[in-house]
Amino acid sequence: VLKVNLSLRKNIKSHLSVLHRNCTELGPNHVREMLKGKRVIVTGASTGIGEQMAYHLARMGSHILITARTEAKLQKVVERCLELGAASARYVSGTMEDMAFAEHVVKEAEASLGGLDMLILNHVGTSYFGYFDGDVGHVRKLLEINFLSYVAMTVSALPMLKESEGSIVVVSSMAGKVGFPFTVPYSATKFALDGFFSSLRQEFSIQSVNVSITLCILGFIDTGKSSAV
Ligand SMILES: NC(=O)c1ccc[n+]([C@@H]2O[C@H](COP(=O)([O-])OP(=O)(O)OC[C@H]3O[C@@H](n4cnc5c(N)ncnc54)[C@H](OP(=O)(O)O)[C@@H]3O)[C@@H](O)[C@H]2O)c1
Repeated sequence: VLKVNLSLRKNIKSHLSVLHRNCTELGPNHVREMLKGKRVIVTGASTGIGEQMAYHLARMGSHILITARTEAKLQKVVERCLELGAASARYVSGTMEDMAFAEHVVKEAEASLGGLDMLILNHVGTSYFGYFDGDVGHVRKLLEINFLSYVAMTVSALPMLKESEGSIVVVSSMAGKVGFPFTVPYSATKFALDGFFSSLRQEFSIQSVNVSITLCILGFIDTGKSSAV
């Protein structure tokens, strides 16, 4: 375990230093300009990391479409995005347990923004922290929210992303790279994301599809919500 941890840490450190170098070379204004006017969907943006990503995009002047279930929170995030300088901001509320809703969000971007440059898949369903309780129904439901809806949105968005030569950003976790105790269903859904999106990235490379796929492997981030694993 120690060996794996050390090699992972080395890997992450080297990725971060490349990212830092790239950002430093480009300069903060250039990085900000890169997303100016871009059309972006952020899922799970009513709270936590998704909400903060929406604010960063707003500061960069992007067109933002956010989604989650809680309409009242989404309304507030949209208002804040507009205050921060978003080129435009809107929301669609609904649950990612429903694949038709996942596809509807992408259609909404097409109708209101006329295309899409970046799809940020970030939402996560609620799970428990404890020994696996054998509830297959919970694993199925979590797979639908955390994995299948990501696939459904990607499939719907691909024609627009190919057109714009855009990007897909998938928010995953250390628990999607290494097995940990107490997060069995969550971890399974995050491993599934890696299998799907890392394989798809290779196919895009073979087929010269110019759509980038970034899998974000996050460690624990205190968003003020104890349920986040
Ligand atoms: N925070 C961490 O320590 C950490 C560590 C590693 C990875 N991550 C990853 O980072 C991402 C964001 O995490 P977070 O900590 O910001 O989570 P969070 O604060 O719990 O936010 C989750 C978001 O997903 C939405 N959501 C939940 N169930 C949904 C459903 N059925 N349909 C549609 N939307 C739903 C929530 O809004 P509603 O409740 O309004 O629907 C909320 O906007 C996740 O993919 C997570 O796995 C987080």
